[in-house]
Order: sequence, then C-alpha cells, then structure tokens
Amino acid sequence: MASHSSPIIHFDHATFGFPGVIALEDISIEIQSGEFIGVIGPNGSGKTTLCRAVLGLMPPLKGHLRIFDCACDELRCHHKAMIGYLPQKGVVDRNFPVTVLETVTMGRYGALGLFKRPGRKDREIAMESLSHVGMDMHKDTALGYLSGGQQQRVFIARALAQQPQVLLLDEPTTGLDITTQHNVVELVQHLHEELGLTILLITHDINMIRSRVDRLVLLKTRLYAAGPPADVLKPDILSQVYGKDLVITDKDLVIVEDYHHHH
Ligand SMILES: Nc1ncnc2c1ncn2[C@@H]1O[C@H](COP(=O)(O)OP(=O)(O)OP(=O)(O)O)[C@@H](O)[C@H]1O
Ligand SMILES: [Mg+2]
Repeated sequence: MASHSSPIIHFDHATFGFPGVIALEDISIEIQSGEFIGVIGPNGSGKTTLCRAVLGLMPPLKGHLRIFDCACDELRCHHKAMIGYLPQKGVVDRNFPVTVLETVTMGRYGALGLFKRPGRKDREIAMESLSHVGMDMHKDTALGYLSGGQQQRVFIARALAQQPQVLLLDEPTTGLDITTQHNVVELVQHLHEELGLTILLITHDINMIRSRVDRLVLLKTRLYAAGPPADVLKPDILSQVYGKDLVITDKDLVIVEDYHHHH
C-alpha cells in the first residue's frame, strides 16, 4: 500500500513560461509520496511544462517548486536520477538502430556517471525492468520492429531502469489502438501498486484513468482543480476548461473531442 505521509513535489504559487508566453501560472499543489496523479487539460494547457518543471528543467519565474528536499533548479544529480521520464511521442527517433535491451540499458547512464560503461549489475537491472513491462522475451529485437504499444513498454522500462521514485509519463497512450491504450494504462497502474512509485500520468483519455488514479489535476495555464476524480469531473468545472469540446453522455462518461489526432 502506498504511503501518503511526506510531500515529494511541492508547487507553491509557481509560474513557468517561455519568452513572451506564460505556460503555467500561480500553481500550488503538494504531491505525496506514492500518489498516482492523472494530469488532464486541453492542448497547450501546460501539461508538458509541468513535467519539465518537475525534472528541474524550468525554474519558476515566480513562486517556488521543491522536489524531494531541493529547489527544482538546484536538483542534485542523485535526485534527478530518482525521476523517470517518458517524453511525449515524437521526441524519440523510433528508427534508431538499437535493440530493446540496449534501449533499456540507456536508462542506467544517469546512475553510472560520465565515462562508465554499464556492467553486469546494470544489465540485470535492465532485464528486471523489461520483465516488469512484460517485454523480457523481446530483449534482442530491434526497437523499430516492435509495435507502438510494445515500444511504449520498452520506453517505460528504460525509465524504470533508472530505479526512480517518481515516474512522469507524458501521453503514453497517444497514437495507440484502444486495446493497447488499456494495456499501457493497466501497466502503469500495476507499476504504481507493485513498485510503490509516485506517478504523474498526463493523458487526454480521462475515461481510461478516472477509476485508477488517486487524484486528477486539471490544467489550463492555471490549476482549475485537483482532487479525487469524482470531485474534479463535474460538468461545471470541466466546461470552464474544455468549453464546447466537452460531451457528457447519459452514462456520465466524459468525452473530450478533437484532442487525439494532432500529433
Ligand atoms: N519551447 C517552447 N517555447 C515557447 N513556448 C512554448 C514552448 N513549449 C511550450 N510552449 C508554450 O507553452 C504553453 C504550454 O505548452 P505545453 O507543451 O506545456 O502544453 P501541453 O498541455 O503539454 O499541450 P499538448 O496537449 O498539446 O501536449 C503553450 O502555449 C505552448 O505554446
Ligand atoms: Mg504536451
């Protein structure tokens, strides 16, 4: 069972942006160790920016962000290594000529430090990560030969090979068929339960995660809501953020149109 005692990520009236753009404004939230958080919001609402902030890549323009016990822009290297990251699709060249095991072993480089080559222990950790995602039998397959869902599992294994405490997943299901989306979300839930990882899962698939996460965070530059799914998924709150794109069926399923096909 996850422990909910110590805050591991603490945004305190934090604002983030790029020259001429405020991407996230006045964000205040505490995330506890072991929580499973779903991050939702329309395109351009600041979800990826939230990830980059947690990785210590974007110090706040205003306010504060603490991760573990460090200010985010002072994250010491052993703290950085405790955050596993699955970037939004399109960042990684999927035709790169490497095998599955080589890809996952790359997750060890942060822990190894400069010039050190991965050894037996690192390959063991990589293999263990592969078995966590059910891909150990594909260890010698070329990455480009795998399906989208299988590749996604391998990239999750690479993040796990870091042996992180926090796992950030930026739209891991985008571009996958519906069954594979389910499998990937189930895998993430499994990792949360089995490994006790603190998870931030960014997705547009609200229906897929609403019954699994501890809390939902609803963004549109500002933090519109953060709490148990039942408290966040209310028509009046959602329509403020999604406007006319919000559809609620008679089964009370929230369907947000038009956010799936832009990548
Ligand atoms: N490198 C950048 N330079 C300038 N502006 C940026 C940069 N990256 C993001 N932005 C802007 O910051 C805002 C938030 O972008 P972000 O990528 O965090 O949104 P998102 O919620 O992840 O969107 P999506 O669902 O499309 O992935 C947007 O207005 C975007 O245009
Ligand atoms: Mg994004």
